[in-house]
Amino acid sequence: MNITRICAVYFSPTGNNRKIARQILDRLAARLGAPKKLIDITLPKSREGRYEFEPSDLAIFVLPTYAGKLPNKLLPYMQSAFTGNGAPAVALVSFGNRAFENSLAELNATLAKDGFRPVSGGAFAAEHAFSPSIGTGRPNDADKAELDALADATADFIEKWDGSPVTLNVPGDADAPYYVPLGLDGLPKKFLPAKPNTDMSLCTNCKACVKLCPVGSINPDNVAETPGICIKCHACIRLCPFHAKFMDDENFLSHRGMLERDHTEPKPNFWAVAGKG
Ligand SMILES: Cc1cc2nc3c(=O)[nH]c(=O)nc-3n(C[C@H](O)[C@H](O)[C@H](O)COP(=O)(O)O)c2cc1C
Repeated sequence: MNITRICAVYFSPTGNNRKIARQILDRLAARLGAPKKLIDITLPKSREGRYEFEPSDLAIFVLPTYAGKLPNKLLPYMQSAFTGNGAPAVALVSFGNRAFENSLAELNATLAKDGFRPVSGGAFAAEHAFSPSIGTGRPNDADKAELDALADATADFIEKWDGSPVTLNVPGDADAPYYVPLGLDGLPKKFLPAKPNTDMSLCTNCKACVKLCPVGSINPDNVAETPGICIKCHACIRLCPFHAKFMDDENFLSHRGMLERDHTEPKPNFWAVAGKG
């Protein structure tokens, strides 16, 4: 099959998915000799876009794992903004070195419902948004080499593919419930209402947090206030130039402590290319 355009769509509050998207897009574009385009859907304004694909396009989607699935606030956009028209797709998720559980299966199923034909997919370990000491430095050079291997295997498949039906088998269950975060004591810890706090002795009112919030929830007139929903993505915390934002919710801190205690051993990546079905 001849590919005439390659697009990588990514949601990346703390930057991992952007790195993964760039790596695989560059390699696939070089291998297939097609023009490339990055589509960043992280900020609210960028999610006003609607995209229609052609059967000769290749679409790459790179999303994070949140509680073992795709970010629930992003799902309605993923279900409504993209029309595949039979275009082949690469389904990729990152996960913060705990587990990807059902996120890749959910992305695979969502893309199929959007009219794409997923031909390859993967789950790549990355630094956890909650703490730089979990999945530290990932995606690293070895992960990038694995992304290149996935890109090469995908290009090999597409070059030989006659367009007949394909099935991408990935682990997980698209309809499974969300993972319930556990704390240091091994018990469930709910922190849905938690929001970041602001150290006003460090804050310079630069409003970077307002501009970077993927759900537009921080009050521009008082950056210490988050009147909108918080998806706990950590964009404001990780990207504040003055380290003024932090979480102090006890249940959240207990979950983060558990991750830092139990999930520092590097986890392997997973990837697969479709078999005919
Ligand atoms: C709200 C939230 C929930 C998360 N849940 C999981 C999870 O269930 N398993 C896991 O391994 N990592 C989890 N992570 C880590 C992210 O999947 C990981 O940091 C991801 O690479 C972030 O992507 P980004 O850097 O492009 O924003 C979670 C992160 C956030 C912010």
